[in-house]
Amino acid sequence: MPHSKITGLGFYVPETVVTNADLAAQMDTSDEWIIERTGIRERRFFKEGVDTVSNMGARAARIAMERAGKKPEDIDMVVFATLSPDYHFPGCGVLVQRELGLRHIPCFDVRQQCAGFIYALSLADQYIKTGFAKTILVIGAEIQSNVMEISDRGRNMAVIFGDGAGAVLLEAHEETGKGILSTHIHADGTHAEELFVEHVGSKLKKRVTHEMIDDGSLLPHMNGKMVFINAVKYFPEVIREALKANNLKEADIDLLIPHQANARITQAVQKEFNMPDEKVVSNIHKYGNTTAASIPIALTEAWEAGRVKEGDLVCIAAFGSGFVWASALIRW
Ligand code: UT7
Repeated sequence: MPHSKITGLGFYVPETVVTNADLAAQMDTSDEWIIERTGIRERRFFKEGVDTVSNMGARAARIAMERAGKKPEDIDMVVFATLSPDYHFPGCGVLVQRELGLRHIPCFDVRQQCAGFIYALSLADQYIKTGFAKTILVIGAEIQSNVMEISDRGRNMAVIFGDGAGAVLLEAHEETGKGILSTHIHADGTHAEELFVEHVGSKLKKRVTHEMIDDGSLLPHMNGKMVFINAVKYFPEVIREALKANNLKEADIDLLIPHQANARITQAVQKEFNMPDEKVVSNIHKYGNTTAASIPIALTEAWEAGRVKEGDLVCIAAFGSGFVWASALIRW
């Protein structure tokens, strides 16, 4: 049976850097509060007319393809993870296909929020294992800065989220014990409304009203404490599940790349596994929480910095709105 292996990776973040001080000038918050509660110092905000979720994803994908030595005609499938697509429909997968000049291959979106990238990777991995596809682009990209309200009312969310994109190229190979060892994906919809955007949806006869704009119900809602408590429970659980499935121990992990939700969540997971700083990737101070993009951005940065070496055991894990959570073990 073929296995899948990451052979190229890339990321793109918009040019505009927004510091905590920039936000504090527009709402009742402070650099100290944001750093203490989240670890974030700055994030990137997209530029209208320059950056879109699909074109940022395509830029990241182009880098991944170049690094893997692949041309547009080599790609068999696109799996695009995002909660913030350019259009309500169609999804970003087909827009990337157009942008990169890919063949008439299957291209689709995955909407699994912060666990979106691992869900997308898991799907791509299954298509490779069955022989359906040999070369798949897996992309995670988000624009969130325009759904947050940069005001006192929106401050609990506006300080956390940022924009960006990351991508990997997944290829079929026959070497056993290398590449994606396993993926583990879960969901519990009983808490769907603890982190969600209610409108504009299809539940109501009038999808959008002036009242929705005025009362803030078009903005995302997050029960931060509830999300936090569940994140610190499920991150370790799903990492242990992956280790057990592969007969590996916590100490075998060479590099842990958690979804960059909040530095305090990463620290809690690190403490749970008693891991030194050099084995845990954290770049949230630079980009904030970029949801489906955070893992491929962090993975690419770690790889570029020489922190991912041949033979290393890399663990990625995520938790987010849904609730959904996931992990994957990769032997590099
Ligand atoms: O990627 C997955 C999705 N999201 C997450 O993983 C986020 C998980 N949750 C969190 O990261 C944290 O819950 C937050 C960072 C969102 C909030 O931290 P917290 O320690 O849970 O703070 P809190 O919500 O309990 O708020 C504490 C205080 C409140 O004031 P009072 O009621 O104590 O007077 C808030 O109104 O901090 C206030 N507050 C702020 N103050 C300054 C909330 N947001 C801000 C802000 N600046 N931006």
